[in-house]
Amino acid sequence: MLSKEFKTKSPSQRLDEIAAACHLTADEKALFAQYGSLDEPTANRMIENVLSTYALPLGIATNFKINGRERLIPMMLEEPSVVAGASFAAKLAQPGGFTATSTEPIMIGQIQMVGIQDVQKAQAAIAAQKYALTEKANAKDPMLVSRGGGVTDIQTRVLETGRGVMLIVHLHVNCQDAMGANAVNTMCEAISSDLEVLTGGSARLRILTNLAIHRTATATAIWAKEALAESTKNTLTGDQVVDAMLDAYEFAKNDPFRACTNNKGIMNGIDAVVIATGNDWRAMEAGAHAFAVKDGKYTSLTTYSKTKEGHLKGEITLPVAVGLVGGATRTHPLAKVCLKIMDLKSARDLGEVLAAVGLAQNFAAMRALSTEGISRGHMKLHAKNIAVLAGAQGDEIDRIAAQMAAEKNVNAARAKELLEKKA
Ligand code: MEV
Repeated sequence: MLSKEFKTKSPSQRLDEIAAACHLTADEKALFAQYGSLDEPTANRMIENVLSTYALPLGIATNFKINGRERLIPMMLEEPSVVAGASFAAKLAQPGGFTATSTEPIMIGQIQMVGIQDVQKAQAAIAAQKYALTEKANAKDPMLVSRGGGVTDIQTRVLETGRGVMLIVHLHVNCQDAMGANAVNTMCEAISSDLEVLTGGSARLRILTNLAIHRTATATAIWAKEALAESTKNTLTGDQVVDAMLDAYEFAKNDPFRACTNNKGIMNGIDAVVIATGNDWRAMEAGAHAFAVKDGKYTSLTTYSKTKEGHLKGEITLPVAVGLVGGATRTHPLAKVCLKIMDLKSARDLGEVLAAVGLAQNFAAMRALSTEGISRGHMKLHAKNIAVLAGAQGDEIDRIAAQMAAEKNVNAARAKELLEKKA
């Protein structure tokens, strides 16, 4: 889809290529070219007390093949090596690439009921009125219902608390291509007075949960041991890399301290795509980390195993509360173009891409950590940043960065020294 030289081209040459590959209009292309696409009136409508905007680099992860389709993936973040890591992992996962699946896009809204005398009777009353409650909630979003969405179930959970027994009502809503927070919250509010009548209690909090266990995506990939050996320039055998990575996986699986960092690496990639598409990355973060502890112990979101041929198989499942409509996906001009570049069929499709990116990112970090260590990959861009901070300009940046990287001595003092030497 892209030229082999894409990586080494200048940003404006890369933009030409992406614009041609994704059929961007001149206006859409101009949004990227102007490095700051959010104008004052738009920004001022998005949040309160606006002063300015804050730009981050936007890159494109390449080499991704997901369910047989080649995908270009915009990523927005400040951290070096993330775009490169994801692209490298995707390249190694060739020729098959990633297989991804997802559940229906069902979010859960919670209504907290307190002060109920007979909780079991209240549960039975809610169950008996499921249909009427569903109708009432759905009436709040006829558009969603017309597109095949709306309430799919109403469940109750009894919660023993320090302030007595509470009944938590869960409203399951198929949100179709919306993330769905507004729809779900409005539906919860719409039925809360009916729930008070049915239960004799009082409705308190009415809000969706970010622990979207019914809206998940799963991605798997196999990395051939031959490719793994090659990735170390054959300094290690494929079997050695697979074993080292399985050891790394066991570490993350069994130790919450490691699992936390492992999952942070996964979210490096996922958040970057979520942000580029104008979605709510805090929702993704909250959902992912809560999901990682769903069985009672915080663990890795990914799992790894060895295939019978000795290759490495990776898998990830996580909640994917993201949409293609609503919020900043439509109001942020660049988010709209990023969605176009991704050529998504649905919010589920976006969720599947996120799962593949998360797995790729985790593979990249684990491979580096299990073989050469993480610093090598970080070194090049890090050295450039240090050179700039020391005052290097133009060609000096590359010269000083290359020397510090070669010396494996990347720090501000050395950068200053090299800069002064030149002067
Ligand atoms: C750094 O942003 C992410 C890593 O720490 C992830 C990991 O340790 O798996 C490299």
